[in-house]
Amino acid sequence: MIREYLRGDADAIFAICSASPEAAQWGRENYDRANENGQIILVAEVAGRVKGFLVVRVAAYEAEILNMAVDPAQRRQGTGSALLLAAEEQALRQDAKQMYLEVRESNAAARTFYEKHGFRETGARPKYYVEPTENAVLMAKKVTG
Ligand SMILES: CC(C)(COP(=O)(O)OP(=O)(O)OC[C@H]1O[C@@H](n2cnc3c(N)ncnc32)[C@H](O)[C@@H]1OP(=O)(O)O)[C@@H](O)C(=O)NCCC(=O)NCCS
Repeated sequence: MIREYLRGDADAIFAICSASPEAAQWGRENYDRANENGQIILVAEVAGRVKGFLVVRVAAYEAEILNMAVDPAQRRQGTGSALLLAAEEQALRQDAKQMYLEVRESNAAARTFYEKHGFRETGARPKYYVEPTENAVLMAKKVTG
């Protein structure tokens, strides 16, 4: 089940991120703040427990995926896809024409995942990430109904 973020989800999201070094490691308070700032935060619940999340910011007709992860034990079961599709629908309702993201060059799983969902590489940002230093790959897709 995909639903909108509720105060109190931050602990579960934080735990998923702690187990997902590829995700951005935000503090718990960032999720409440992102929610208050009108960003799209969706969570995936499986058997009543939060097993995945995604954060998207829509501005100037563009939707940026700021963070996303699925509990490692829950991966390859369609959870990430369900989150992404729901986020695309919301972004479309907020007039986004394009969705984009940055991903670590070495993150083959996420790059394949986004490619499967129609994202294509549009550029690179050298040494965008720290700890460890790494290039970012930019990926984007048109948002359609
Ligand atoms: C990327 C991520 C969110 C995908 O979540 P997920 O729930 O496993 O995704 P899905 O089950 O919906 O996968 C859909 C498709 O994406 C592709 N895919 C997903 N994970 C993959 C992997 N590890 N290797 C190759 N392809 C993969 C496959 O085509 C998959 O379909 P299939 O399982 O039928 O072959 C998850 O791997 C994750 O949390 N990674 C760590 C955090 C991260 O990298 N976040 C993104 C930062 S930009």
